[in-house]
Amino acid sequence: MEHPRQRKKGRKAEGSKEKRSPGKPLDRKHQTQQTRTPCVQCLVVFCAFLGLLTTVLMILPCPADPQEYSFSAPPKLEGPLAPNTILSRAEHFVEGKVAGPESLVTYKGDLYTGTADGRVLRIRGEEVTLVGRTGTPPCGTYETEPTCGRPLGMRVDSLGNLYIADAYLGLLKMNISTGEHKTLIPMDVEVAGHKMMFPNDLAMDQDGVIYLSDSSLTWQRRDVFSLVLEMKPEGRVLRYDTKTKQVRQIMDGINFANGVELSPDQSYLVVAETSTARILKHHLRGDHAGRTEVLADNLPGLPDNIRRSSRGGYWVALAATRGTKGPNVMDAIQARAWLKRLIFKTIPTTLLLHAAPKYGLILEIDETGTIVASYHDPDAASIAGGSEIHEHDGHLYIGSYFARFIGKLAMEELDRL
Ligand SMILES: *[C@@H]1O[C@H](CO)[C@@H](O)[C@H](O)[C@H]1NC(C)=O
Repeated sequence: MEHPRQRKKGRKAEGSKEKRSPGKPLDRKHQTQQTRTPCVQCLVVFCAFLGLLTTVLMILPCPADPQEYSFSAPPKLEGPLAPNTILSRAEHFVEGKVAGPESLVTYKGDLYTGTADGRVLRIRGEEVTLVGRTGTPPCGTYETEPTCGRPLGMRVDSLGNLYIADAYLGLLKMNISTGEHKTLIPMDVEVAGHKMMFPNDLAMDQDGVIYLSDSSLTWQRRDVFSLVLEMKPEGRVLRYDTKTKQVRQIMDGINFANGVELSPDQSYLVVAETSTARILKHHLRGDHAGRTEVLADNLPGLPDNIRRSSRGGYWVALAATRGTKGPNVMDAIQARAWLKRLIFKTIPTTLLLHAAPKYGLILEIDETGTIVASYHDPDAASIAGGSEIHEHDGHLYIGSYFARFIGKLAMEELDRL
């Protein structure tokens, strides 16, 4: 973890500059000019300092309960995962008009998305207009995010009801033309003994049953990096029936429950388990109803939303990749609980963003979870990380929780190496 360490050292050095600088034993220039005596003193001071630092670090309370997690080595980038530059050809659609367009739906030929400033937007051609807001401004800071609202996963029915998983306001139903909305599952409702903490994505079946992921019992969306770093399996999936208005929990123990999608025959649910780089399959019907298995394991990155592909199978957006470029820093950190405690105690977890390689990657998997194709942007020339891939009008529209545009790639480009 280069950045945080450097930062920490830098911080330490500021307070003890005079004591440390004469003792730098590896600085050749200094070594030739100095005698040995000050170095002994310096060593004593340094050891005392180290002791003090260790004591302070041990006494400092840890704001989390980080768990060790050992990943397998990430898959080799070969076969269907062989690098290409197809994703780097994605255009920056409606650039500057959207902030973090996480999820996308199509209704009567128009695109809709929800953004980091709490807005739900309609995109007709290149024109972007406001449909409504989930919360109340002001927006744009860590402090205002919970009241501003953060629309994440979205789905629309044939009548023009937009169902939105808002990370702070619950499951909402918005009139797609007027923006008027009501709350279907408020945040203060306890489901299976817990209030929702981080509603994230949803899928809806033909009978109006909604499957909603709640990513964590501990962390809100604004603390998503803490959620990833802690690695506690506290995510779950809730089932809400729009007809009976009943809600119950159908899955739990998920390590950051994220994207949710139904199989074409609605017999099972696919759920992204983001922190462990896996996709789960939960049977809804048949002999195995109620059982969960792993559909795809050891993905080359952390999966976000999952959406059906018109070519069969599913599109998987990777929010970050593992080991695609240089050393696999994040996996190494995740395997060490002591290091994670140290990080939690000393530096902002947002710095983890820099531990992930800058590499755009989206996957296409089949119904068995096998990766059948991958589209890469190795230098993040166009896209550094995706949150959802939505098919519309012969194109892939690629959402992102941080970009100021929507990635747009013609589907015919997918077969053009
Ligand atoms: C949305 O609101 C308009 C205007 O009030 C109404 O005509 C329409 O039926 C509403 N749509 C839905 C899906 O309720």
